[in-house]
Amino acid sequence: MKKVTLHDKTFEEYISREKIQTRIDELAIEIDKDYADKTITMVGNLTGAFIIMADLCRHIHTPVDVKFVKYSSYEGMATTHVVKERMGFGGMDLSGRHVMIVEDIIDTGLTLHYLLDLLKHKGAASIKVFSLLLKPDSVQKEVQVDYVGFDIPNDFVVGYGLDYDGMGRDLDSIYKLSS
Ligand code: IMP
Repeated sequence: MKKVTLHDKTFEEYISREKIQTRIDELAIEIDKDYADKTITMVGNLTGAFIIMADLCRHIHTPVDVKFVKYSSYEGMATTHVVKERMGFGGMDLSGRHVMIVEDIIDTGLTLHYLLDLLKHKGAASIKVFSLLLKPDSVQKEVQVDYVGFDIPNDFVVGYGLDYDGMGRDLDSIYKLSS
């Protein structure tokens, strides 16, 4: 089994690169069907979403307008329960656009809930959510996620954009904390 050490913790491979690619292919087909004849305004939430955004926008055939924001609630290995705006929607014109929020992972759902609340007032024609990972047992806020790569248990994971204190984002598969 592949293992990696980041700072003081050891992680073991959990979802392989091949599995991720296969799942992205499946979701890309679904997205292309859903957005036929439309343009998607993909809004990735940094930093974690940068890898999946790059993959997703190249797997789908639907035209995309790529944008990024940065809202976060996590520090180290836990949520702070407070969402901070590091790079906001600002003057982004989303009126009449088909917006797809792209997240790396939804844990408590606080970040996504906050983002969706802000988006309500931007006049988008439609709003959908894509997340590579979802921890269903951890969700505290009712949020609708339209496209989910994988449901996972409440384990702390890294790789494919996700970090442990800044490290591990570059791993090309997903690793979970070794027990
Ligand atoms: P939420 O607001 O609790 O849903 O947290 C979402 C954000 O927390 C994600 O965008 C990640 O930055 C971070 N996060 C949540 N779970 C993990 C994890 O298992 N590993 C790394 N980051 C995580």
